Amino acid sequence: MKTYVITGGTDGIGKALALTYLERGHEVMVVGRSAEKGEAWLEAARHHGAAARAHFVRADLSLVSETRAVIDRIRTAFTKIDALVLCARHFRTTRLVTAEGFENTFAHFYLSRFVLCHELADVLEAANTPVILNVAGPGGDGEIHWADMQLERAYDGQRALAQGGRLNDLLGVGFTDSRPETPVRYVLLNPGTVSTSFSGQYTPAIATQIEAMRRSAQLVDEAIAPILKVLAAPPAAPLSAMVRGERLDPHGPGFALEDARRLREHTKRLLAACPEG
Ligand SMILES: NC(=O)c1ccc[n+]([C@@H]2O[C@H](COP(=O)([O-])OP(=O)(O)OC[C@H]3O[C@@H](n4cnc5c(N)ncnc54)[C@H](OP(=O)(O)O)[C@@H]3O)[C@@H](O)[C@H]2O)c1
Repeated sequence: MKTYVITGGTDGIGKALALTYLERGHEVMVVGRSAEKGEAWLEAARHHGAAARAHFVRADLSLVSETRAVIDRIRTAFTKIDALVLCARHFRTTRLVTAEGFENTFAHFYLSRFVLCHELADVLEAANTPVILNVAGPGGDGEIHWADMQLERAYDGQRALAQGGRLNDLLGVGFTDSRPETPVRYVLLNPGTVSTSFSGQYTPAIATQIEAMRRSAQLVDEAIAPILKVLAAPPAAPLSAMVRGERLDPHGPGFALEDARRLREHTKRLLAACPEG
């Protein structure tokens, strides 16, 4: 029996992975914002006679304080985790700043993933073949706004998400760089367009586009089949990246080591200055 922790596991790809692993007899902790969706997950687990192996932690991962509370819950529940699957993502048309002072997309899509990866590394390293699966947008063409990473001057929902994809690429590079001996395989994965809940705050025009996209997108059950294969047998390299099943060079453009180190230092400074963090 393996232990899976899945953020954003109350909907979309994360939820489908969580249910699959539960059905396969594993222990699964789902992290999500909605108590109602969390209860639905626990109810599904009871229905499968698997309540003892299902866990739910309600948390808003846009807050460092809540991300750290999740880490405490994980440490209390498990001595090792085999897979950390990062799926929480929420689109915002308008810029929102968290109570801790971070732009929301930056906070939940990148910063919480940074904290989870680095601060759970030892719990992952206690497993035999640990893996972090960061489901995002590797190799994307977003820009990192080094001088305005919180997008105070030029916020746009797509720009924030695209920047987040790039930051997650550098998180993968930085994680493996900072732990040269780690057994953790780090996989950055973009599944392609999948018909999920697309959690977000949209204008009516964007909501219409999302609806149209959903109609031609892959179904969640189709989309998770290759993801399950990757999780069952991650590539041997410490860091790998893939877009819809195609391998990307994780040392190519967008994955520069010097940028990853710069970002790691920048992120550490932000966390050190964060009163709640
Ligand atoms: N779907 C696609 O076409 C696509 C394409 C490329 C990459 N991806 C990536 O795949 C991953 C999963 O996407 P998806 O489309 O399956 O997601 P989804 O259906 O939109 O679900 C997102 C999940 O994240 C949770 N979440 C959002 N903000 C959160 C927060 N602040 N704290 C805790 N949980 C939060 C949501 O909870 P609520 O339900 O409460 O909002 C939900 O459970 C994402 O990282 C995304 O970037 C998806």
